[in-house]
Amino acid sequence: MPQHLTVVNHPLIQHKLTIMRDKNTPSNQFRQLLREISHLLAYEVTRNLPITMKTIDTPMATIEAPKLDGKKLALVSILRAGNGLLDGMLDLIPSARVGFVGLYRDEATLKPVKYYFKVPSEIDKRFVIAVDPMLATGNSSAAAIDMLKEAGAKNIVFLCLLAAPEGVARMKEAHPDVPIITASLDEKLNEVGYIVPGLGDAGDRIFGTQ
Ligand code: URA
Repeated sequence: MPQHLTVVNHPLIQHKLTIMRDKNTPSNQFRQLLREISHLLAYEVTRNLPITMKTIDTPMATIEAPKLDGKKLALVSILRAGNGLLDGMLDLIPSARVGFVGLYRDEATLKPVKYYFKVPSEIDKRFVIAVDPMLATGNSSAAAIDMLKEAGAKNIVFLCLLAAPEGVARMKEAHPDVPIITASLDEKLNEVGYIVPGLGDAGDRIFGTQ
């Protein structure tokens, strides 16, 4: 089994992430940088995709050449901030199927409640990449993975931009079989569940809301 947590600390990622963390970086630049980092994360998360050989004719010769094997993979965005990572992933894997999971937190029970769930058919046969920029408490991420497993998904990775140690621990307890790939393991959560040093509210920064 691959290691549970992979931190992709490529110099380009670190540089772009520093600009994203800066509170003075505007939404348009933030979105663009997230897109660029998601290309670099996509490279890492797809590193072990299975390959099959296919016969093709180049203008010079007939060869056996590699192509991706199996069903098209599924990208699942955890709404709404997941869409910021999704766009860049689709640049690199344009034929991927796409799903969405929408959750909100019930203020009485504090439990995540599903308000939207739609995933590609035959999800059990696909490599599923669940995307959400911020792995904070891990409660909604773990709930989203529960729902994907209930729908039949078996081969899942969780891709995020920033992770808090608390969220990584929660995911490891709930879903030890789901590797996490992130651009940074930050220091901690604050008392209201924000990642420190973090970058603030990812959804607000992507979409320019407050
Ligand atoms: N969600 C965010 O957008 N930011 C955090 O720091 C934590 C959760």
